[in-house]
Amino acid sequence: MSHAEEKGTRRDFLYVATASTGAVAVGAAVWPLVDQMNPSADVQALSNKEVDISGVEVGTQLTVKWQGKPVFIRRRTAEEIKIGRETPLADLPDPTSQNKNKWALDASDENRVLDEAGEWLVMIGVCTHLGCIPLGDGLGDFGGWFCPCHGSHYDTAGRIRKGPAPLNLLVPVNAFLSDAVIKLG
Ligand code: FES
Repeated sequence: MSHAEEKGTRRDFLYVATASTGAVAVGAAVWPLVDQMNPSADVQALSNKEVDISGVEVGTQLTVKWQGKPVFIRRRTAEEIKIGRETPLADLPDPTSQNKNKWALDASDENRVLDEAGEWLVMIGVCTHLGCIPLGDGLGDFGGWFCPCHGSHYDTAGRIRKGPAPLNLLVPVNAFLSDAVIKLG
């Protein structure tokens, strides 16, 4: 090997070695960023919640706290379902579903509930006027929830019917994991 070839080879080696070191350094710098973009297990756990509904009787409501807010899980009676389903859409001040699972649909009773039969209704328990917690269990003029702060009446599907609240109670993302467990979020 000539001197020039030897020099060139040495230079190439140094270049390759430097490039490799650089690649390792870049790899090490990028990984923590990528890692930070994946939510940790405890952050994911906060964003959803599993609720055991096996003890909820017909005609009662379970209230759980989720993401700092009360969530009403109501197991409706046949009468509550009937009233909700027979209400004409034209009577509703807010005609939108306010259901994150069925966002673009209208506020018919079917579009507010979790199951086809309409027994389970899951809602964020925060009045859409100024954020008080409505009282439940068949209260108010429409047999659903009543907000005592300024007198908003919600019906058996949690739809605003009378008072200053502008919107139906919000239905969060929720789904059955099994007959006994509902997942929020
Ligand atoms: S906060 Fe509910 S009516 Fe005002």
